[in-house]
Amino acid sequence: MMISEKMQSTLNDQINEELFSSYLYLSMSAWFQSINYKGFAGWMKKQSTEEYEHAMKIYDYLHEVGADVSLDAIKKPQASWKSPLDAFKDALKHEKHITECINKLADLAVEEKDHATNIFLHWFVTEQVEEVGNATDIVEKLKMIGDNPAGLFMLDGQLGHR
Ligand code: FEO
Repeated sequence: MMISEKMQSTLNDQINEELFSSYLYLSMSAWFQSINYKGFAGWMKKQSTEEYEHAMKIYDYLHEVGADVSLDAIKKPQASWKSPLDAFKDALKHEKHITECINKLADLAVEEKDHATNIFLHWFVTEQVEEVGNATDIVEKLKMIGDNPAGLFMLDGQLGHR
């Protein structure tokens, strides 16, 4: 195995974090669908797929370096939110949490002088800047829109074209 036991277990934890992210956004997608916001629902469904792909990147990397994949139970995600703003605020909070996890992983790679894993993680560091940026942008728009149905209708249409 080309990585430490600790790195192996922390990367396995990150697979679980990414799979939970996928599950959370799928739950948000289903909730948006249930209240007929098809654009928001589509955006979240796409996000859910991306999170699954993030998990798979780590899954493939573990195999590549001769480490073991061990899959843990995935937490049950929340199933409903008070408003679109409430859901996207939660998504933003979650992405900030994921950024922290990635940063901790990157710290560990530096500490262990694990150059291969450090370089592997660069993609995730960059991706998190984008993910937090996107979620922040939508939260800000939803704050501006407030309870205006026309505004919500328009943003739903826009995000459906992601
Ligand atoms: Fe895979 Fe949204 O972080």
